[in-house]
Amino acid sequence: MSKYLITSALPYANGPIHFGHIAGAYLPADIFNRFLRQKGENVLYICGTDEHGVAITINAEKEGIPYKQYVDRYHNIIKEFFDKLNIRFDHFSRTTIPEHYALSQEFFLALHKKGLIKPAVEDQFYCSACNRFLADRYVSGACPKCGAPDVRGDECTKCGEWLDPSKIISPACKVCGRKPEIRRATQYFMDLKAFAPRLKEWLENKKDWKPNVKNKALSLIEEGLVERAITRDLAWGVPVPLEEAKGKVLYVWFDAPIGYVSSTMEWARLSGKPEAWKDWWFDKETKLIHFIGKDNIIFHTIIWPAMLMGQDKPYIIPDNVPGNEFYNLEGRQFSKSDGWYIDTADFFSKYGVDALRYAIASNGPETSDSQFAWEDFQARNNELADSLGNLVNRCFSFIRKNFDGKIPAASSELKPEDKALLDSFTPVFEEASKSYYSYRVRAALTQAMALAHAANKYVNDTAPWTLRKTDLARCGTVLNVASRAIINAAIILYPVIPDTALKILTKAGMNTDGKAPEFKPYTGDLNNKTLGTDDTLLFTKIPDDQIKLEIEKLKKTG
Ligand code: 2FM
Ligand code: ZN
Repeated sequence: MSKYLITSALPYANGPIHFGHIAGAYLPADIFNRFLRQKGENVLYICGTDEHGVAITINAEKEGIPYKQYVDRYHNIIKEFFDKLNIRFDHFSRTTIPEHYALSQEFFLALHKKGLIKPAVEDQFYCSACNRFLADRYVSGACPKCGAPDVRGDECTKCGEWLDPSKIISPACKVCGRKPEIRRATQYFMDLKAFAPRLKEWLENKKDWKPNVKNKALSLIEEGLVERAITRDLAWGVPVPLEEAKGKVLYVWFDAPIGYVSSTMEWARLSGKPEAWKDWWFDKETKLIHFIGKDNIIFHTIIWPAMLMGQDKPYIIPDNVPGNEFYNLEGRQFSKSDGWYIDTADFFSKYGVDALRYAIASNGPETSDSQFAWEDFQARNNELADSLGNLVNRCFSFIRKNFDGKIPAASSELKPEDKALLDSFTPVFEEASKSYYSYRVRAALTQAMALAHAANKYVNDTAPWTLRKTDLARCGTVLNVASRAIINAAIILYPVIPDTALKILTKAGMNTDGKAPEFKPYTGDLNNKTLGTDDTLLFTKIPDDQIKLEIEKLKKTG
């Protein structure tokens, strides 16, 4: 048994979450978490909202409300959304809790004491009309690296580059639109170069990482790590804990990843064992796994590991950073402000949560960008209805109708086709297990659905509805074998469609208590097992005209 500390990138408390975020950092982590629990591993899954940064202050100022009130609202909206989507964190915290401030300052001071954080004077944009330094996104302009217009001051939304805000081309003040002037100001810089040899060695030893993540991290080191300002002149954030740095706060990307630790601390405190967070963060046996989207690679493979390496306490460093590519909407990036988005409340009122989880997971951006397209969603939903839903429905309805709701006993003499299906369970579990362990959910789903297809074919070929009239015992055997296939398919699919899987197991007469079923072929006795009473359909097919309407609606707003 291993010990896993899983995190999902802390979402900004700056707007609702969209499917693109879900596909990158949340659903893959939730699936991994659920699967590991099925395997009996020791797991803790941590997340929370990232509540500082200029993107947030700008929007709160636009609305004219206090920063805290603004982040409170989105913290709650995001938390509710994750609940709805069945993303099951052990703890969901936020970066405005007291322990987060104290811990972030401790991280800063440990590095500062060793001379790994130093003050320096740098050029900064200053807006004389607004009377302030323009931190990060208060300035917009073109990306100095790829040339994309109108990017944020600190991160290019196009090429993903971490930018020095003073290098932005054709800068403009985001508030008043004027061209800012350059002034000299002191900020604190983290010496990333000092960590380069250790980071390089650590990364090169990572044999099982996704190549896209590992290569990006190594090439950043190769290009040469530059000192970056990790403080800002802002009124919102974690105060820099130095007498001489009054009015300065930590850069949001310095404090955000510390949220993984402070959230674990809060979890420990709330569970009545305030020291328990150390069992995770200070234990060399813990595998720390950060799920992120590709735009967060530099922070999780360079800056955050360096911050951890520079502490005096025995922090572990990431074991793996499964970064995903981008997930778009019908060929374009999700963007609420451009009207290119899906109203999630409306979505869930029409389509089930598991249909969405399946559609995203079976087409996740694991190694290249992928997208949500309405017709693709329809096809995947209908595939679930046709294969899994139909299999469950026709077998169990048949048993209800003809065998008094009890799974008929299997004969001790099995035919080759029975054996073939039964013998396929173990290899499918083995293959799917390998896939889930290595973040290949798409492959795991292909394997699980192949089992559902094989079971459907078995039922079609053996035709129990005919056997009922000609050979009742044989009919019973077929239904018994098919029921076992259904149960096993549900167990393998549980990480992706947990509600549906548990529903299937309950339909099959099992008492799951809402708990994750063990990830291994089911060996319990099915002979004469009474089915559950729920005979509702698992999925409904989505007709073409409904999808046409959805596409029209999207095109109208976007
Ligand atoms: O890109 C983002 O949405 C950031 N809020 C992710 C932070 S991840 C971690 F470092 F906290
Ligand atoms: Zn201005």
